[in-house]
Amino acid sequence: MIIGVPKEIKNNEFRVGLTPQSIETLIDNGHEVIVESNAGIGSGFSDEDYINIGAKIFKTPNDIYEKSELIIKVKEPQLSETQLLKPNQILFTYLHLASSKNLTEQLLESKCTSIAYETITSDSQGLPLLTPMSEIAGRLSIQAGARCLEKHSGGSGILLGGSSYSPPANTLVIGGGVVGYNAALIADGMKSHLTILEKNNERIDFLKNEFPKAQILNIDDINMEDIVSEYDLIVGAVLIPGAQAPQIIQKKHLQLMKHSCVMVDVAIDQGGCFETSKATTHEDPTYVIDNVIHYCVANMPGAVPRTSTISLNTATLPYIQKLANSGIEAFCKNSAHHLNGLSTYKGMLTYKPVADLFKLTYSSPIDIF
Ligand SMILES: NC(=O)c1ccc[n+]([C@@H]2O[C@H](COP(=O)([O-])OP(=O)(O)OC[C@H]3O[C@@H](n4cnc5c(N)ncnc54)[C@H](O)[C@@H]3O)[C@@H](O)[C@H]2O)c1
Repeated sequence: MIIGVPKEIKNNEFRVGLTPQSIETLIDNGHEVIVESNAGIGSGFSDEDYINIGAKIFKTPNDIYEKSELIIKVKEPQLSETQLLKPNQILFTYLHLASSKNLTEQLLESKCTSIAYETITSDSQGLPLLTPMSEIAGRLSIQAGARCLEKHSGGSGILLGGSSYSPPANTLVIGGGVVGYNAALIADGMKSHLTILEKNNERIDFLKNEFPKAQILNIDDINMEDIVSEYDLIVGAVLIPGAQAPQIIQKKHLQLMKHSCVMVDVAIDQGGCFETSKATTHEDPTYVIDNVIHYCVANMPGAVPRTSTISLNTATLPYIQKLANSGIEAFCKNSAHHLNGLSTYKGMLTYKPVADLFKLTYSSPIDIF
């Protein structure tokens, strides 16, 4: 297959779909790999690094999209990119379609085959291609939140871990999956007072074991009105796979909260779990509503592209190899887990939660393959 790697164009996105090391493996498997000039530079990989392992460098995204059978990206394609997609071309990347009807319709119009990293499943690991970025976003959420709490950032001026003479900040993590666990790990390590709200009882037991000093509660037993006033930092980390996030903190709650407290909505890529969330960028990451600082960056791992690109490639490479080596039909036929990633196919919408959400026609991938 001819595999293309365009340069990411989303605001402040410095990750790249394939590292030189991954490309070397794909070339060893008999594939040709073409890379847009400077695609890897933000992650510390020069054009020479790619040339040295046998990739070809092309100057423009048009060259990459024109020549490639399989496009490997990181973030969802922007409008200028969906216009370049071709029928039968395969796009393998994060898509997060539940947050954009426009993008869903553009992919359908292009008649490309799109596969979303974030909805591929596995027996052992839940969402194996979301996990590496969730781990990083979870860890970053506390770092970002702590920074927003600093006075010069407009925050209340409380140090997350307090000091020997002053109490620490209270941190609330909503959703104790991969993002929530990693946020909790850092918040706990920084000596913040930690509360986690989860829905799944098995997960609650796991979290209680991991964080014996924290308060771990079932969200169904909680009235948000009763507790929001206690927290300095709130991290939103819930996920209902493939669907829009539930709005757990509503606008009416903001007036009950501490002045200049911070809410980090990591679930923003699925529409956000706070009613007042709207996606922001690394360039302008925060805004304030009712004295509450909102941080809603949709591509948080883009802030640490070196770590993120290497982590992402470690997880995606085996899937990219299978897809490139066997072709789309065998890739989908041989695994229900792979099929869960299929979002659009030849103008058909094959991911049910997104079809239901946007009231678009759903075509079952099981009937197609
Ligand atoms: N902004 C970013 O840069 C970025 C990066 C990575 C992941 N994410 C997003 O973070 C979110 C969380 O991802 P994850 O990998 O941790 O998912 P996950 O599936 O591992 O965890 C989600 C958790 O939320 C829990 N949950 C579901 N509904 C809930 C509710 N109403 N109340 C409390 N808990 C609830 C689930 O039981 C689960 O434990 C996703 O939307 C993901 O796309 C964003």
